Amino acid sequence: MPHDPSSGRVLLVGAGPGPVDLMTVRAVRAVESAQALLYDALISPEAIALAPPGCVRIQTGKRAGKPSMDQDEINRLMLRWARKGLRVVRLKGGDPSIFGRVGEEAAFLKAHGVPVEVVPGVTAACAAAAQFGFPLTHRGEARRVVFTTARLEAGALAGDWSAAADPQATMAVYMGGEVAAALSAKMIAAGRSPSTPALAVEQAGGPEARLYRGTLVTLAERLSQTGGGPVLIVIGEVAAQAEAQGDRRLSELPEKTMISGRRSGRA
Ligand SMILES: C[S@@+](CC[C@H](N)C(=O)[O-])C[C@H]1O[C@@H](n2cnc3c(N)ncnc32)[C@H](O)[C@@H]1O
Repeated sequence: MPHDPSSGRVLLVGAGPGPVDLMTVRAVRAVESAQALLYDALISPEAIALAPPGCVRIQTGKRAGKPSMDQDEINRLMLRWARKGLRVVRLKGGDPSIFGRVGEEAAFLKAHGVPVEVVPGVTAACAAAAQFGFPLTHRGEARRVVFTTARLEAGALAGDWSAAADPQATMAVYMGGEVAAALSAKMIAAGRSPSTPALAVEQAGGPEARLYRGTLVTLAERLSQTGGGPVLIVIGEVAAQAEAQGDRRLSELPEKTMISGRRSGRA
């Protein structure tokens, strides 16, 4: 049946850190009702499988041997499908508002007259904290959380790191795995104690998650032991509270739950 072009819209949806049981009910419903699904590289096959038969599925992240689509191409695809009158779901890892380009995509679509809705998701820092039993804020110990990323320019970290000097700041560092040594050096230079607890969580949220604990001084060495999955770094006093038993809580959750009238979860 042809679609009414005026009914086209785009939902920018956070899929959480991986497992479908960490997606919000709204995110699950969005994928279940998608007519076109554009999904990033870190999206789990289970989340993609929620899309109904007949839904157009397009991977936008790196695929075997092929590079990621560039942002212009993704924008053009979303626009093309929305103008055909489809309900387009752009599914991103974690929360779309945290290093998820949601601002750029929403601005592009709105500028072209396409209605946009954002569905939040569980960001990697929250998933890591919940899974390994440490808080991101803690009374008397951590009064702010800085969601940041770290990028090298001429061998040193780019940007203003003065916020990192606050001993009560928890730094949640995305995409920082390869610059951990420079990150530690920058934070120590900013005034943070070299013995500040620091950790990395690889594949937070899922059963394969791994915790690497250390301090600002040992962080880079600990990160050299990671296995190639996405890694989040957390630096601050709260990191000392991390417990190593990651998946215990997840395995205690009931396996099957009703979501939007149909059963989900592992069979
Ligand atoms: C482009 S950013 C997207 C972040 C995402 N929007 C979020 O809210 O989690 C990708 C980076 O997020 C972090 N990340 C995403 N998923 C992760 C996971 N399951 N475990 C650990 N880190 C993760 C890693 O630092 C990765 O390089």
